[in-house]
Amino acid sequence: MRCHVVLPNAFVEAAERAERSEAALRRRTSLRVGGRPDFLFEPATEADAAAVIEMCREAGVPLRFLGGGYNLLVSDGRVEGAILATRRIKYFDVQPEQVHIGAGNSFPTLVKDAIELGIPGLPGCPGIPGTVGGVVFMNAGGRFGTVSDALTAVRLIDGDGNVREHQVQPGDLGYRRTIFDGCLVTGAVFRRDDRITRAEAARLYEEAMEWKRATQPMSAKSAGCIFKNPDGPDGPRSAGRLIDEAGLKGHELGGARISPVHANFIENLGGATALDVQELIDLVRERVRTRFGVELELEVRSW
Ligand code: EPU
Repeated sequence: MRCHVVLPNAFVEAAERAERSEAALRRRTSLRVGGRPDFLFEPATEADAAAVIEMCREAGVPLRFLGGGYNLLVSDGRVEGAILATRRIKYFDVQPEQVHIGAGNSFPTLVKDAIELGIPGLPGCPGIPGTVGGVVFMNAGGRFGTVSDALTAVRLIDGDGNVREHQVQPGDLGYRRTIFDGCLVTGAVFRRDDRITRAEAARLYEEAMEWKRATQPMSAKSAGCIFKNPDGPDGPRSAGRLIDEAGLKGHELGGARISPVHANFIENLGGATALDVQELIDLVRERVRTRFGVELELEVRSW
């Protein structure tokens, strides 16, 4: 399906929207750093999102997609081109065997609802902030559950501008990796399983939440884990543990610091800039390389 909705003066409006202070990505990302884009689009429907993508392509304007901004490091100053924010693309449709949900819906709310709805895996994902679109795109999760546990289909607009529903195949989603790069995720379909009892799901939620509270800085301004866990001879190694053992836990640089709770989190103490965060990232990489010969790779997306 191809969309040809005409948005009159859309670029002028999007530029005006981007001028406003709330457009600054510092206000739209959990790490609270980052400048302003040239254009900001906030479509409320999949069709309008497709029109924005088409229009930007025709005009040759680079376009980036923004979900909840929880896994993102944005540079200071001007962010060239346009941003399409998905937070207004919301819907929630519960069917006997499936739940259909928009990219802009809150993932933590879905995780709570999953206890009643019997969605496998999701009750094991409390304390993962973000929009449904963002967590699907990143295949977020942890030791108690992962988004991909119950994901059956993804609604998306692909790189050619086609709006479609992709049926998830084995291998489409891996460790913090999906095949949806270059696509805009507009919604998701999760399966329900009536064999899961409410009590069982609630227990999983509580256990996962308790563990998360004890091991991660949940109230800090952060982007979650900064680095992916690197492969080691006996399987993946915790990047947090490596950074900790390199002696960097609690290390401060400008307004940013390595979390004293979990060393794979960088916290904004208040006035951090993207440059502070980038310098801290460079320092961590250098120390871990020197100490362990391990090359850390960013998990967060960097603009
Ligand atoms: N550890 C330390 N010091 C630290 C952090 C961890 O010694 O500063 C030790 C822990 O004590 C534990 C081991 O390292 O023995 C592993 O730590 P943890 O269980 O916290 O797991 P992780 O591998 O560091 C991964 C994910 C987290 C996810 C947790 C729990 C990555 C990069 N991180 O962390 O995901 O919540 O497992 O399942 O995959 C995220 O992706 O944003 C994220 C936070």
